[in-house]
Amino acid sequence: MYCVRKVTDDLYWVGANDHRTTLFENIHPIPKGVSYNAYLLLDEETVLFDTVDWSVCRQMMENLEHLLEGRELNWLVVNHLEPDHAASIEQVLIRWPNVKIISTEKGFMLMRQFGFHPDNHDIRIVAEGDTHCFGGHTVAFVAAPMVHWPEAMVTLDVTNGALFSADAFGSFIALDGKLFADEVNFDRDWIDEARRYLVNIVGKFGPHIQMLLGKAAPLLDQIKFICPLHGPVWRKDFGYFIDKYDKWSRYIPEEKGVLIAYASMYGNTEAAAQALAAKLCEKGVTNVSVYDVSNTHVSYLISEAWKYSHIVLASVTYNLGIYPVMHNFMMDMKALNLQNRTFALIENGSWACKSGDLMQKFINEELRNCEVLNERLSLASSMGPDKAAELEVLADAIVESVQNS
Ligand code: FEO
Repeated sequence: MYCVRKVTDDLYWVGANDHRTTLFENIHPIPKGVSYNAYLLLDEETVLFDTVDWSVCRQMMENLEHLLEGRELNWLVVNHLEPDHAASIEQVLIRWPNVKIISTEKGFMLMRQFGFHPDNHDIRIVAEGDTHCFGGHTVAFVAAPMVHWPEAMVTLDVTNGALFSADAFGSFIALDGKLFADEVNFDRDWIDEARRYLVNIVGKFGPHIQMLLGKAAPLLDQIKFICPLHGPVWRKDFGYFIDKYDKWSRYIPEEKGVLIAYASMYGNTEAAAQALAAKLCEKGVTNVSVYDVSNTHVSYLISEAWKYSHIVLASVTYNLGIYPVMHNFMMDMKALNLQNRTFALIENGSWACKSGDLMQKFINEELRNCEVLNERLSLASSMGPDKAAELEVLADAIVESVQNS
């Protein structure tokens, strides 16, 4: 059964939702699913903007057959070649052998690498600033390298103001009937998953996102719809989401607050983390989130690291090093280029406490523009009452730093 939504009179969402895949890119959990968005324009010529993941290819094909009502598909515009959007290209080419393809030079290179055989078709290589008219609608192509792969572009329909934004402005979570961001409570129900999507997938390429935002800024008056490849379509409140993207891509904390991530083997480091959280709240800093790194997927930790201004790392010493799961979290922060955060440390060790110094060294040497507060809570096996004064000092230092940030 077809399942489509109308964006405008002649533009339709023809994508699909996926609740079966458990790991996006086979690494990030998606317990609330994900949508793969593709869009069909019914102009004098018909145009499909991107395709979908192979797992939902049949749904997209049914959607296309329904809307085309026997018309040919004349054009396929491929903004991004990652297979969660491009895997169904070959099926489209087989079904509509006369379809002409528009993409960037690198896009066609990747199509060949993935084995989609574009060269059996009329292909048009486009670059920044090129335009194409499909009849009533004219589109302009804008390069968006590294948002999220080097071949990526976005396409602006200058006639109706629809920006096909590829991975930019996307989100995890299946649409499940909704299409527009104003049909959901985005700030309450979606923002955490939108951040988790963006910073884990494209977080490393903040400057490239900034470049795209810079190109979009003078066009904002023309943009009426932002149509990403995942998550809802935006038709109002662009400023809300653009501001989030601006902060995330400049590595500016979204909120004043404290992420406490702890690595605890037997609950003693956890007890210290909880005691600190209580102290912070008691002292008026209540925007605090606490996570056990051992049972929290690192993509959630990364998302929270992007959200908060302050990060407390509490780690037991393990094999004279940082607890491996905590170390993995720190390596991910480095890989994704997290910057501009204030850290505080809690260390624990029963006979050779090393984790604090090692975490400090890592932050100083591997993370850009981050500082570590001097006050550190150091435990020998457990958090006893003798540590109350140290805890107080650490909490005071964090509170002061948060208030002054
Ligand atoms: Fe949703 Fe980079 O693909």
